[in-house]
Amino acid sequence: MPEASSLSIDGIGSLPPVLTAPLSGVSDLPFRRLVRRSFNGLVFSEMIAGKEMLQGTATSLRMALFAPDESLPAIQLAGREPAVMADAARLSADLGARLIDINFGCPVKKVVNGLGGSAIMRDEALAVSIVEAVVNAVNLPVSVKMRLGWDRSSVNAPEIARLSEQAGAVMVTVHGRTRDQFYDGRADWRAIAAVREAVSLSLVVNGDIATAGDARRAMALSGADAVMIGRAAFGRPWHVGALARALESGGEVELAEPSLEMELLLEHYDMMLEFHGERRGCRLARKHLLHALARYPGGDAVGRMIANCDEPEAVRARIRDFPDTLSPPSRVRAA
Ligand SMILES: Cc1cc2nc3c(=O)[nH]c(=O)nc-3n(C[C@H](O)[C@H](O)[C@H](O)COP(=O)(O)O)c2cc1C
Repeated sequence: MPEASSLSIDGIGSLPPVLTAPLSGVSDLPFRRLVRRSFNGLVFSEMIAGKEMLQGTATSLRMALFAPDESLPAIQLAGREPAVMADAARLSADLGARLIDINFGCPVKKVVNGLGGSAIMRDEALAVSIVEAVVNAVNLPVSVKMRLGWDRSSVNAPEIARLSEQAGAVMVTVHGRTRDQFYDGRADWRAIAAVREAVSLSLVVNGDIATAGDARRAMALSGADAVMIGRAAFGRPWHVGALARALESGGEVELAEPSLEMELLLEHYDMMLEFHGERRGCRLARKHLLHALARYPGGDAVGRMIANCDEPEAVRARIRDFPDTLSPPSRVRAA
């Protein structure tokens, strides 16, 4: 039975109930373009430090670059200074962003030691100032991405979400882990139900969602309107569109044939080399290759071999040959 679920965002309208996560080092322009080929929802940029964006560093500007075929550019900003975040939001709007997301969830030491990312959840007044500053700076929808809290004894996502809503945010995404969990254990989708009770804005559940079954359970347990997909799209940007179609039809994600997956992986590899340059592109493509191949039985070893190779033509030949090395029943795993 098809499900009529969708996400509605003021200033944008109705969207599929699936979002592609901001992923540093992964959701670059080639990745987003491939996601968008089969998916018409929100696809976030990598996290961009507001300060670096204003300084115009090459890396941050490359992250904020959108392709003409990318509709709905959505930029995620990180930083703890409201005025800087406001200026970075204005610049993002000038660069074509249609939505600005604020990062209150990054657990990485370097970021939280600078008191950014999830460290902001420990200072609710600061969190409000940042959301207010960004909302007032741009005439665009503003969303916030957070974790459940800093640790189990300070789960304050419901309060931060409520304050963000009051400050004018139109959507919050909650990753069902605390900062001190990093990626340990399982995401607690049920804990996000307390956020649902606290706010009426659009709510997105995130963490460990790979299949349509996961997505339905996560939305049912949390009461969220939509799911956000991160690691399940590593090495297969087309998975997000497949998951959105499965949710729409009431079915499960259909797995592609290995040869088709490898064709798309090859295209992704070439797009990365073109966008980042051969040296950097080769390095950045490694994690996509490893993840893509590791989903097949015996693919780990081949993935490692390919990932350690700096010779693009040899990498391409290996990827092309890969399906022939699989025994007939070897299928890619959904999760
Ligand atoms: C390699 C990597 C990079 C990430 N980069 C970002 C980021 O730039 N901004 C952000 O808000 N979250 C970032 N995250 C967190 C994800 O967006 C997501 O919240 C988390 O991976 C849980 O979802 P998943 O289980 O679907 O992957 C990153 C996660 C990973 C693994």
